[in-house]
Amino acid sequence: MTQRGRPRSSRTSRRPRTGPPGRGEGLPGSDAQTLAIPPEGIRLNRYMARAGVCSRRKADALIAEGRVKVNGRPATVGQTVYEHDEVEVGGRVISPRPYVYILLNKPDDVITTVQDERSRRTVMDLVTLPDDEKAALFPVGRLDRHTLGVLLLTNDGELAHRLMHPRYAVEKLYRVRTREPIRPHELDALRRGVDLDDGPARADRVAYLHPPDHHEIGLMLHEGRNRQVRRMLEALGHEVVELERVQYAGLTTEGLRRGKWRRLEPHEIRRLRRLVKLT
Ligand code: URA
Repeated sequence: MTQRGRPRSSRTSRRPRTGPPGRGEGLPGSDAQTLAIPPEGIRLNRYMARAGVCSRRKADALIAEGRVKVNGRPATVGQTVYEHDEVEVGGRVISPRPYVYILLNKPDDVITTVQDERSRRTVMDLVTLPDDEKAALFPVGRLDRHTLGVLLLTNDGELAHRLMHPRYAVEKLYRVRTREPIRPHELDALRRGVDLDDGPARADRVAYLHPPDHHEIGLMLHEGRNRQVRRMLEALGHEVVELERVQYAGLTTEGLRRGKWRRLEPHEIRRLRRLVKLT
């Protein structure tokens, strides 16, 4: 049984309503960082797992055994629950952990992972949040150890999954600096596509950043394959000496110094959710 549960009597205002919130209410707004479940609700078994009660499979078993109630009534397997519903397991009210959305300006020489078995510095070391908020946090995709810039971290598995899924073709803009100048016909090659081990890759957009200097380009991709930018440049014989993700799904590091993080604003969370059709 969860340690996070609380006796039902401790709840001061019980809201027995069930069903999705009405138009405009309960949407991620000023309290978006504390919303525990999305406006469209979540499956009860997932709610229980996110409250730390048990796995989703075990949750279904508990529901089938009649040990779970929603707003005082016996729950059913597959039931959807919403932000204001009250869920009891074995007589104790449970609550899922709130969602957390973090934007980090990743510095050099930091590994994008939750834990590194070689004890190198990870992006998690830079995000100074209380342990309970940090518990289920993970990076959305990865940046190489020496890549700088925009990195999202969250505990919202559904949003993260969709942001990384090729179907949603989320745009990423990179600033790429090479040792040797990139010639105009090589920019065309990037636009047309270059052959990589795992198939052809092409830039959606590419341009010099500071003409007439040809060492630095902006390169837009909607894919997110491993080391994709470095490999595209290597395919043309170029060594990348600096790589920065300057934009991810429209988010930038503007106003955020290297190595620093901030929480996403409610309007930014809403925009991300719309982008991947989660509303
Ligand atoms: N492409 C790369 O080569 N590296 C990154 O970190 C991100 C995109």
